[in-house]
Amino acid sequence: MSQRVPGWAVETLSGAGFEVRMRDSDAPASSDELVRLVEGARGMVSFLTDRVDCAVIEAGGALEVVSTVAAGYDNIDVAAAVERGVEVCHTPDALTDATADLTMALLLAAARRLPENDGFLREGGRILWRLEQPLMGLDVSGTTIGIVGAGKIGTAVARRARAFGMRIVYTGRSGWDRPIEEELSATRCELDELVRTADVVSLHVPLTDATRGMIDAQVLQAMKPSALLINTSRGALVDEDALADALESGWISGVGLDVFADEPAVNERLLALRERVVLTPHMGSATEGTRRAMLATAVDNVIAALRGCAKNVVPRR
Ligand code: DGY
Repeated sequence: MSQRVPGWAVETLSGAGFEVRMRDSDAPASSDELVRLVEGARGMVSFLTDRVDCAVIEAGGALEVVSTVAAGYDNIDVAAAVERGVEVCHTPDALTDATADLTMALLLAAARRLPENDGFLREGGRILWRLEQPLMGLDVSGTTIGIVGAGKIGTAVARRARAFGMRIVYTGRSGWDRPIEEELSATRCELDELVRTADVVSLHVPLTDATRGMIDAQVLQAMKPSALLINTSRGALVDEDALADALESGWISGVGLDVFADEPAVNERLLALRERVVLTPHMGSATEGTRRAMLATAVDNVIAALRGCAKNVVPRR
Protein backbone atom coordinates (compact mmCIF):
# COMPACT_ATOMS: atom_id res chain seq x y z
CA MET A 1 0.00 0.00 0.00
CA SER A 2 1.71 3.17 -1.10
CA GLN A 3 -0.59 5.35 1.04
CA ARG A 4 -2.16 4.94 4.44
CA VAL A 5 -5.63 3.38 4.03
CA PRO A 6 -8.45 2.61 6.48
CA GLY A 7 -8.20 -0.51 8.64
CA TRP A 8 -10.98 -2.38 6.81
CA ALA A 9 -8.90 -2.49 3.62
CA VAL A 10 -5.88 -3.94 5.46
CA GLU A 11 -8.13 -6.43 7.25
CA THR A 12 -9.64 -7.57 3.94
CA LEU A 13 -6.16 -8.37 2.64
CA SER A 14 -4.93 -10.04 5.82
CA GLY A 15 -8.20 -11.98 6.06
CA ALA A 16 -7.44 -13.30 2.58
CA GLY A 17 -4.09 -14.55 3.84
CA PHE A 18 -1.76 -11.74 2.73
CA GLU A 19 0.75 -9.86 4.80
CA VAL A 20 0.35 -6.11 4.31
CA ARG A 21 3.14 -3.54 4.15
CA MET A 22 1.75 -0.01 4.26
CA ARG A 23 3.47 3.35 3.91
CA ASP A 24 2.47 5.43 6.93
CA SER A 25 1.62 8.57 4.98
CA ASP A 26 -0.99 9.83 2.60
CA ALA A 27 1.40 12.26 0.91
CA PRO A 28 2.62 11.25 -2.56
CA ALA A 29 5.41 8.66 -2.40
CA SER A 30 8.86 9.35 -3.86
CA SER A 31 10.39 6.97 -6.35
CA ASP A 32 12.81 5.64 -3.69
CA GLU A 33 9.93 4.99 -1.31
CA LEU A 34 8.03 3.08 -3.99
CA VAL A 35 11.10 1.01 -4.85
CA ARG A 36 11.57 0.09 -1.16
CA LEU A 37 7.88 -0.65 -0.77
CA VAL A 38 7.65 -3.15 -3.63
CA GLU A 39 10.83 -5.09 -2.86
CA GLY A 40 9.75 -8.68 -2.30
CA ALA A 41 6.04 -7.83 -2.63
CA ARG A 42 3.70 -9.87 -4.84
CA GLY A 43 1.12 -7.13 -5.16
CA MET A 44 1.05 -3.35 -4.99
CA VAL A 45 -1.94 -1.11 -4.28
CA SER A 46 -0.95 2.19 -5.86
CA PHE A 47 -2.45 5.64 -6.20
CA LEU A 48 -2.75 8.29 -8.87
CA THR A 49 0.16 10.27 -7.43
CA ASP A 50 2.61 7.32 -7.67
CA ARG A 51 4.91 7.20 -10.66
CA VAL A 52 5.03 3.44 -11.17
CA ASP A 53 7.78 3.41 -13.74
CA CYS A 54 10.11 0.73 -15.04
CA ALA A 55 12.46 1.14 -12.04
CA VAL A 56 9.66 0.48 -9.57
CA ILE A 57 8.36 -2.50 -11.52
CA GLU A 58 11.87 -3.98 -11.80
CA ALA A 59 12.53 -3.42 -8.09
CA GLY A 60 9.51 -5.55 -7.35
CA GLY A 61 11.11 -8.77 -8.57
CA ALA A 62 8.27 -10.85 -7.13
CA LEU A 63 5.56 -8.45 -8.28
CA GLU A 64 2.54 -10.04 -9.95
CA VAL A 65 0.04 -7.18 -9.87
CA VAL A 66 -0.14 -3.40 -9.63
CA SER A 67 -3.64 -2.39 -8.61
CA THR A 68 -4.30 1.32 -8.86
CA VAL A 69 -7.02 3.10 -6.89
CA ALA A 70 -8.07 5.00 -10.00
CA ALA A 71 -9.67 4.60 -13.39
CA GLY A 72 -6.80 6.38 -15.18
CA TYR A 73 -3.42 4.67 -15.33
CA ASP A 74 -1.20 7.06 -17.28
CA ASN A 75 1.08 7.17 -14.19
CA ILE A 76 1.95 3.49 -14.67
CA ASP A 77 4.36 2.11 -17.25
CA VAL A 78 1.94 -0.55 -18.47
CA ALA A 79 4.28 -1.74 -21.25
CA ALA A 80 7.08 -2.41 -18.74
CA ALA A 81 4.63 -4.24 -16.49
CA VAL A 82 3.25 -6.39 -19.30
CA GLU A 83 6.79 -7.25 -20.44
CA ARG A 84 7.56 -8.58 -16.96
CA GLY A 85 4.25 -10.43 -16.65
CA VAL A 86 2.84 -8.00 -14.08
CA GLU A 87 -0.93 -7.40 -14.34
CA VAL A 88 -2.12 -3.81 -14.06
CA CYS A 89 -5.65 -3.43 -12.70
CA HIS A 90 -7.81 -0.36 -12.14
CA THR A 91 -11.24 0.74 -10.89
CA PRO A 92 -13.12 1.65 -14.09
CA ASP A 93 -16.67 1.60 -12.73
CA ALA A 94 -16.47 2.96 -9.20
CA LEU A 95 -16.12 6.65 -10.08
CA THR A 96 -18.27 7.02 -13.19
CA ASP A 97 -21.24 8.74 -11.55
CA ALA A 98 -19.23 10.95 -9.19
CA THR A 99 -17.04 12.20 -12.05
CA ALA A 100 -20.01 12.75 -14.34
CA ASP A 101 -21.73 14.70 -11.54
CA LEU A 102 -18.69 16.93 -11.10
CA THR A 103 -18.53 17.48 -14.86
CA MET A 104 -22.08 18.83 -14.80
CA ALA A 105 -21.32 20.87 -11.67
CA LEU A 106 -18.37 22.54 -13.44
CA LEU A 107 -20.44 23.10 -16.58
CA LEU A 108 -23.23 24.78 -14.63
CA ALA A 109 -20.84 26.70 -12.40
CA ALA A 110 -18.95 28.11 -15.38
CA ALA A 111 -22.11 28.82 -17.40
CA ARG A 112 -23.89 30.54 -14.50
CA ARG A 113 -20.71 32.05 -13.02
CA LEU A 114 -21.34 30.62 -9.57
CA PRO A 115 -17.94 31.42 -7.97
CA GLU A 116 -18.09 34.98 -9.28
CA ASN A 117 -21.68 35.49 -8.09
CA ASP A 118 -20.82 33.96 -4.73
CA GLY A 119 -17.82 36.31 -4.45
CA PHE A 120 -20.03 39.26 -5.45
CA LEU A 121 -22.32 38.73 -2.45
CA ARG A 122 -19.52 38.00 0.01
CA GLU A 123 -17.69 41.13 -1.05
CA GLY A 124 -20.68 43.33 -0.26
CA GLY A 125 -22.56 43.21 -3.57
CA ARG A 126 -26.29 43.93 -3.21
CA ILE A 127 -29.17 41.82 -4.47
CA LEU A 128 -30.79 44.09 -7.00
CA TRP A 129 -32.86 42.28 -9.62
CA ARG A 130 -32.79 44.03 -12.95
CA LEU A 131 -33.10 42.93 -16.53
CA GLU A 132 -29.39 43.02 -17.03
CA GLN A 133 -27.62 42.42 -13.78
CA PRO A 134 -23.91 41.95 -13.18
CA LEU A 135 -22.36 38.56 -13.93
CA MET A 136 -25.01 37.30 -16.33
CA GLY A 137 -24.75 33.64 -17.34
CA LEU A 138 -25.01 31.52 -20.46
CA ASP A 139 -27.97 29.29 -21.27
CA VAL A 140 -27.48 25.56 -20.92
CA SER A 141 -30.79 24.05 -21.97
CA GLY A 142 -31.15 23.98 -25.76
CA THR A 143 -27.42 24.21 -26.38
CA THR A 144 -25.09 21.53 -27.72
CA ILE A 145 -22.54 19.60 -25.71
CA GLY A 146 -19.64 17.91 -27.51
CA ILE A 147 -18.53 14.82 -25.61
CA VAL A 148 -14.96 13.87 -26.47
CA GLY A 149 -14.68 10.17 -25.62
CA ALA A 150 -17.54 7.68 -25.60
CA GLY A 151 -16.45 5.63 -22.57
CA LYS A 152 -18.33 5.16 -19.31
CA ILE A 153 -17.87 8.70 -17.99
CA GLY A 154 -18.57 10.30 -21.38
CA THR A 155 -21.79 8.29 -21.58
CA ALA A 156 -22.82 9.21 -18.03
CA VAL A 157 -22.19 12.90 -18.79
CA ALA A 158 -24.21 12.66 -22.00
CA ARG A 159 -27.16 11.21 -20.07
CA ARG A 160 -27.02 14.04 -17.55
CA ALA A 161 -26.64 16.68 -20.27
CA ARG A 162 -29.63 15.24 -22.10
CA ALA A 163 -31.68 15.57 -18.90
CA PHE A 164 -30.67 19.26 -18.90
CA GLY A 165 -32.10 19.62 -22.41
CA MET A 166 -28.77 19.68 -24.24
CA ARG A 167 -28.16 18.24 -27.71
CA ILE A 168 -25.35 15.70 -27.90
CA VAL A 169 -22.56 15.39 -30.43
CA TYR A 170 -19.62 13.12 -29.65
CA THR A 171 -16.37 11.58 -30.80
CA GLY A 172 -15.12 8.16 -29.81
CA ARG A 173 -12.82 5.48 -31.22
CA SER A 174 -15.74 3.11 -31.28
CA GLY A 175 -19.02 4.94 -31.15
CA TRP A 176 -21.97 4.21 -28.94
CA ASP A 177 -24.22 1.30 -29.83
CA ARG A 178 -27.29 2.28 -31.80
CA PRO A 179 -29.69 2.04 -28.77
CA ILE A 180 -27.53 4.50 -26.78
CA GLU A 181 -27.23 6.86 -29.74
CA GLU A 182 -31.00 6.74 -30.08
CA GLU A 183 -31.63 7.18 -26.36
CA LEU A 184 -29.42 10.27 -26.37
CA SER A 185 -30.34 11.46 -29.88
CA ALA A 186 -26.58 11.72 -30.26
CA THR A 187 -24.62 12.34 -33.44
CA ARG A 188 -21.07 11.05 -33.84
CA CYS A 189 -18.62 13.31 -35.66
CA GLU A 190 -14.92 14.12 -35.96
CA LEU A 191 -13.22 16.34 -33.39
CA ASP A 192 -12.87 19.31 -35.75
CA GLU A 193 -16.62 19.36 -36.44
CA LEU A 194 -17.41 18.81 -32.76
CA VAL A 195 -15.37 21.79 -31.62
CA ARG A 196 -16.87 24.00 -34.31
CA THR A 197 -20.46 23.16 -33.39
CA ALA A 198 -20.51 22.57 -29.62
CA ASP A 199 -21.41 25.21 -27.04
CA VAL A 200 -19.71 23.09 -24.40
CA VAL A 201 -16.79 20.76 -25.11
CA SER A 202 -16.27 18.14 -22.39
CA LEU A 203 -13.21 15.87 -22.33
CA HIS A 204 -13.51 12.18 -21.39
CA VAL A 205 -10.59 10.43 -23.07
CA PRO A 206 -7.63 8.86 -21.27
CA LEU A 207 -4.21 10.49 -21.44
CA THR A 208 -2.06 8.65 -23.99
CA ASP A 209 0.65 9.66 -26.46
CA ALA A 210 -2.13 10.20 -28.99
CA THR A 211 -4.31 12.42 -26.79
CA ARG A 212 -1.62 14.46 -24.99
CA GLY A 213 -2.07 18.13 -25.97
CA MET A 214 -5.02 17.33 -28.27
CA ILE A 215 -6.73 20.58 -27.23
CA ASP A 216 -4.17 22.99 -28.62
CA ALA A 217 -4.27 26.56 -29.93
CA GLN A 218 -5.71 25.48 -33.28
CA VAL A 219 -8.55 23.54 -31.67
CA LEU A 220 -9.28 26.35 -29.22
CA GLN A 221 -9.40 28.89 -32.05
CA ALA A 222 -11.89 26.69 -33.90
CA MET A 223 -14.30 26.68 -30.93
CA LYS A 224 -17.19 29.15 -30.70
CA PRO A 225 -16.26 32.36 -28.86
CA SER A 226 -19.20 31.67 -26.55
CA ALA A 227 -18.12 28.07 -25.84
CA LEU A 228 -17.04 26.49 -22.57
CA LEU A 229 -14.38 23.81 -22.16
CA ILE A 230 -14.81 21.31 -19.32
CA ASN A 231 -12.07 18.86 -18.32
CA THR A 232 -12.45 16.22 -15.60
CA SER A 233 -10.14 13.70 -17.29
CA ARG A 234 -6.44 14.59 -17.38
CA GLY A 235 -4.89 18.06 -17.50
CA ALA A 236 -2.27 17.20 -20.09
CA LEU A 237 -4.98 16.68 -22.73
CA VAL A 238 -4.95 20.46 -22.95
CA ASP A 239 -2.13 22.84 -23.85
CA GLU A 240 -2.65 25.06 -20.81
CA ASP A 241 -0.74 28.05 -22.12
CA ALA A 242 -2.83 27.99 -25.29
CA LEU A 243 -5.90 27.74 -23.04
CA ALA A 244 -4.83 30.81 -21.07
CA ASP A 245 -4.31 32.62 -24.41
CA ALA A 246 -7.78 31.47 -25.51
CA LEU A 247 -9.43 32.85 -22.37
CA GLU A 248 -7.46 36.08 -22.40
CA SER A 249 -8.14 36.67 -26.10
CA GLY A 250 -11.80 35.62 -26.09
CA TRP A 251 -11.37 32.63 -28.43
CA ILE A 252 -13.62 30.82 -25.95
CA SER A 253 -15.81 32.07 -23.15
CA GLY A 254 -14.92 29.97 -20.11
CA VAL A 255 -13.67 26.75 -18.56
CA GLY A 256 -14.36 24.29 -15.79
CA LEU A 257 -11.20 22.38 -14.93
CA ASP A 258 -10.71 19.68 -12.32
CA VAL A 259 -7.37 18.46 -13.66
CA PHE A 260 -4.09 20.13 -14.53
CA ALA A 261 -1.08 19.23 -16.64
CA ASP A 262 1.53 19.55 -13.88
CA GLU A 263 -0.35 18.40 -10.80
CA PRO A 264 -0.03 19.14 -7.97
CA ALA A 265 0.93 22.52 -9.49
CA VAL A 266 -1.77 24.61 -11.15
CA ASN A 267 -0.91 26.77 -14.14
CA GLU A 268 -0.35 30.29 -12.77
CA ARG A 269 -1.95 31.98 -15.76
CA LEU A 270 -5.15 29.97 -15.33
CA LEU A 271 -5.17 30.65 -11.59
CA ALA A 272 -5.05 34.38 -12.29
CA LEU A 273 -8.19 34.27 -14.47
CA ARG A 274 -11.61 34.46 -12.84
CA GLU A 275 -14.21 35.36 -15.43
CA ARG A 276 -16.13 32.12 -16.19
CA VAL A 277 -13.07 30.19 -14.98
CA VAL A 278 -13.94 27.53 -12.40
CA LEU A 279 -11.08 25.43 -11.01
CA THR A 280 -11.28 22.47 -8.63
CA PRO A 281 -8.46 20.33 -7.15
CA HIS A 282 -8.82 16.96 -8.97
CA MET A 283 -11.87 15.99 -6.95
CA GLY A 284 -13.99 14.20 -9.58
CA SER A 285 -14.09 11.02 -7.49
CA ALA A 286 -13.90 12.73 -4.11
CA THR A 287 -17.09 11.59 -2.44
CA GLU A 288 -16.92 9.31 0.58
CA GLY A 289 -18.85 6.49 -1.06
CA THR A 290 -16.90 6.67 -4.30
CA ARG A 291 -13.45 6.70 -2.69
CA ARG A 292 -14.46 3.75 -0.52
CA ALA A 293 -15.75 1.85 -3.56
CA MET A 294 -12.52 2.60 -5.44
CA LEU A 295 -10.35 1.27 -2.61
CA ALA A 296 -12.57 -1.80 -2.15
CA THR A 297 -12.31 -2.55 -5.88
CA ALA A 298 -8.52 -2.10 -5.88
CA VAL A 299 -8.11 -4.43 -2.89
CA ASP A 300 -10.40 -6.98 -4.51
CA ASN A 301 -8.39 -6.67 -7.74
CA VAL A 302 -5.13 -7.57 -5.93
CA ILE A 303 -6.69 -10.59 -4.26
CA ALA A 304 -8.21 -11.81 -7.54
CA ALA A 305 -4.95 -11.37 -9.45
CA LEU A 306 -2.87 -13.15 -6.78
CA ARG A 307 -5.37 -16.01 -6.89
CA GLY A 308 -4.85 -16.27 -10.63
CA CYS A 309 -8.12 -14.73 -11.83
CA ALA A 310 -7.26 -11.10 -12.48
CA LYS A 311 -10.12 -8.71 -13.11
CA ASN A 312 -10.40 -5.07 -14.12
CA VAL A 313 -7.17 -5.46 -16.08
CA VAL A 314 -6.38 -2.24 -17.96
CA PRO A 315 -6.84 -2.38 -21.74
CA ARG A 316 -3.62 -2.90 -23.70
CA ARG A 317 -3.17 -0.05 -26.16
C1 DGY B 1 -9.14 8.51 -11.83
O1 DGY B 1 -9.49 7.54 -11.15
O2 DGY B 1 -8.52 8.37 -12.89
C2 DGY B 1 -9.51 9.84 -11.31
O3 DGY B 1 -8.88 10.86 -11.96
C3 DGY B 1 -9.28 9.88 -9.82
O4 DGY B 1 -10.04 10.86 -9.24
